[in-house]
Amino acid sequence: MEIEYRPGTFSDIACDLLAYPVFEEEAEDFAPLEPLDRRVRGAVRGALESGEFKPELHRTCTLFPVAGVRARRLLLVGAGKKGRFDPAVLRDVAGTAVRAARAAACRTTALLGRGDHPAGLAARVAAEGALYADYEADIYKTRGRERRELERFYILLPGAPARAAGEAAEGIRRGVITGEATNFARTLANEPANILTPARLAERAREIPGLAVRTLDREEMERMGMHALLAVSRGSAEPPGLIVLEIPGEKPKRPRRGPLHALVGKGVTFDSGGISLKPADKMEEMKGDMAGGAAVLGAMAALARLKPRVPVIGLVPAVENLPGGRATRPGDVVTSYLGKTVEIINTDAEGRLILADALAYARTLGAARLLDVATLTGACMVALGRVNAGMMGTDQKTMDLLRRNCRVTGEGLWQLPMDDAYRKAIRSEIADVKNIGDRWGGAITAAKFLEEFTEDTPWVHLDIAGMDLETDGRPFACKGATGFGVRTLVGWLE
Ligand code: BES
Ligand code: MN
Ligand code: ZN
Repeated sequence: MEIEYRPGTFSDIACDLLAYPVFEEEAEDFAPLEPLDRRVRGAVRGALESGEFKPELHRTCTLFPVAGVRARRLLLVGAGKKGRFDPAVLRDVAGTAVRAARAAACRTTALLGRGDHPAGLAARVAAEGALYADYEADIYKTRGRERRELERFYILLPGAPARAAGEAAEGIRRGVITGEATNFARTLANEPANILTPARLAERAREIPGLAVRTLDREEMERMGMHALLAVSRGSAEPPGLIVLEIPGEKPKRPRRGPLHALVGKGVTFDSGGISLKPADKMEEMKGDMAGGAAVLGAMAALARLKPRVPVIGLVPAVENLPGGRATRPGDVVTSYLGKTVEIINTDAEGRLILADALAYARTLGAARLLDVATLTGACMVALGRVNAGMMGTDQKTMDLLRRNCRVTGEGLWQLPMDDAYRKAIRSEIADVKNIGDRWGGAITAAKFLEEFTEDTPWVHLDIAGMDLETDGRPFACKGATGFGVRTLVGWLE
């Protein structure tokens, strides 16, 4: 799909479908829609007054055929309340338009960007939303796949001055980069675990253009003493890997400045629970237990193209968690890369074990800012549902920044507390720390475990359990992996 900015007015654009966002208030106060309504001879007013169309968020109404505009159809898209029309809302409205256009077998679609966001930002989120919506997860179907005929997506920004064209084009360029990176992360998380093993995940990382990628193998990790990570992969025949991604070729003209930032993503390609085996119900969803790692790969793919001013590396510990004759047992004690000993009470609390070694290793690579993203705990889903990811850590400045950016990224984040008192739950009788607490505050005790391995380096942890998967399908998205985290991570480094 080609995405283009088009200056000019909505009536001049020739396309199969013109999407026109309508605010809820405009069902009552009609004035802002008058220019459109005059063009289409009262059809918009008719749709609203008859009650045929209610401009609630993501509701749509097709007017067809339409005279007075060059578009073959007019799609009214509910944009919700005007006061809540954040960039994130515009993104999903753009997505709703794209999926409606695809369902109607359109080849060319135009979106009228409403609201008063700066042109570059509006164009960017619209482009992201269009790409997000154009994605399907049905790659293994041999028949009956969704139609993908949309060729062109035009973005119109009626309020923008002529000189905004450059900004809009740059916004689209960035939006395409993050949109493609998000879909890349979704593809990885949607892959079944028999296809996407730890080794294949490393291969996909190596295929990303513009990155230098190396993978520590089992022997190297054994030599280095990464026994927390290795303990998780013991039950699987699939060899583990620690994927390290760098953006090479710093130009001396514009040297990168500031502390080294490390993005660390949980890469459990399948989480059966290990000896602490999970129940069968929904266990297939655990093929997506590398969604955090996929978000890091996606973010690094985007950053390789966006060239941020700050230096950044990515780390993805990649393992499969299975039971087996060599698997780690509850009660086993291992020594982590940092040197702290861990009593493994529950082999299903594996994410924190692999992240512990990856975080500690990132520090030895010189990282001075740490951010990890992981489908870490069911407890986080219990606390926050599928609306916000849990955010914890020691870097309050970054957490404030990430939280503020939610209205742009659309990726909900909510901070959970990290009082020292929570540390008590993971005290072990025989080792430095144990890998689970009691039943209470499970998202936080998991984070307290990770904190042990970040020492004094400023660190943010995103628990994205539940946010990684769209279980119902939305007007702007198919069911399946969401790519959650890519936009947050890229936004941070931008
Ligand atoms: N990958 C799971 C967490 C998860 C659960 C993610 C459901 C997405 C959906 C994680 O490895 C896990 O199993 N956590 C355990 C921890 C417990 C044993 C302390 C959990 O949440 O039950
Ligand atoms: Mn688990
Ligand atoms: Zn897991």
